[in-house]
Amino acid sequence: MARPLKTLLITSVAVVSCLGSVMTNPTVAQADRQDVGSLRFQAPIDLKVGTALSPAPLSQDRSYADFAASQFNSITPENEMKWETIHPAQTVYNFSPAETIVSFASAHGQMVRGHTLLWHSQNPAWVTQAAWTCEEARAVLQDHITTVVGHFRGEIYQWDVANEIFHDPWDQGGVRLRIDQNPFLRACAEDPVALIEDAFRWAHEADPGAVLFLNDYNVEGINAKSDAYYALAQQMLADGVPLGGFGLQAHLGLQYGFDTSLQDNMKRFDALGLQTSITEADVRMPTYGQDNPSEEQLAEQAARYGALLQACLDVPGCHSFTVWGFSDRYSWVPGTFAGQDWATITSRDGSLKPAYWTLLDLLTNATPGRSPRHDMGHWR
Ligand code: XIL
Repeated sequence: MARPLKTLLITSVAVVSCLGSVMTNPTVAQADRQDVGSLRFQAPIDLKVGTALSPAPLSQDRSYADFAASQFNSITPENEMKWETIHPAQTVYNFSPAETIVSFASAHGQMVRGHTLLWHSQNPAWVTQAAWTCEEARAVLQDHITTVVGHFRGEIYQWDVANEIFHDPWDQGGVRLRIDQNPFLRACAEDPVALIEDAFRWAHEADPGAVLFLNDYNVEGINAKSDAYYALAQQMLADGVPLGGFGLQAHLGLQYGFDTSLQDNMKRFDALGLQTSITEADVRMPTYGQDNPSEEQLAEQAARYGALLQACLDVPGCHSFTVWGFSDRYSWVPGTFAGQDWATITSRDGSLKPAYWTLLDLLTNATPGRSPRHDMGHWR
């Protein structure tokens, strides 16, 4: 009987706070559940529930560290494996910030998502200012991937190898590889796909156990950008490239519509034999000059989080669902999107939002009723 209940919860997540408490446990009020809820322990065995994590609050804020440890069983270093931090000069690798995160995860029985190896953003000046031939760019990228993936060999279960390599439909020139912005793709503009494919091969050689992902935003629904990824994924698989997964970042905003083709989109990648993953979920909203979100905004936000998790629960090869930070206190959103905020599942004062309870309820109800799943073990 779990499935009808689950369906009800998905389609009416906005009312999950009343329905959920009546239908799952009529005697336990949400406030009382503050002590007993844990996303990681409610999650089905083959679904990791993750968060992005940063070293600074980890060392300064006990409640942040406690929540990260008790609620999640997967961790993504928010910035510490990006080129500008981990490879600040051509001959210098700086592993220590990433190791802080990996050690935290290991100490708390959590798995680690690696993020990221080939991206146009957060690169150091020696990369952005380089004037490489393709051969030189390939050598630099191979050294980086071999060194970084090799350093963490056996400690990372999913790697975002290539991040945001396609433009958006609204960018000049439409959906196309970011040859103009990504220094590696630019150097190898004659055959950028060959470089992307080799990046996956190098990562696979360095750690054959890690599942290797393409990852991007604005690919939640079936649209021109996710179509481009679908075509690329088909080509990579036909070429025998060790591509193992497609990551949907899912940085949503309440001011935008929600594309309900999400699940069908994930299913078409699943049908290629790839894993899928929600890798950076958050749901921001305009503040309209208010100090706090309205109840209506919080309910809508909960519904969006719920729809993301439900899609993952319903797709057999979706083995990780990661939120991009869990506290508004440390979220990247207000610093990046002017006039927008409140994107995470807990408030600045630490209180749990409706979105948290929606996730917890969906996980709790999913456990017994889940459809047969692929095993997580191998890269494909
Ligand atoms: C963001 C981090 O959260 C910020 O702290 C940083 O200043 C910029 O990058 N897509 C990604 C992530 O793949 O790496 C980005 O993370 C958010 C968008």
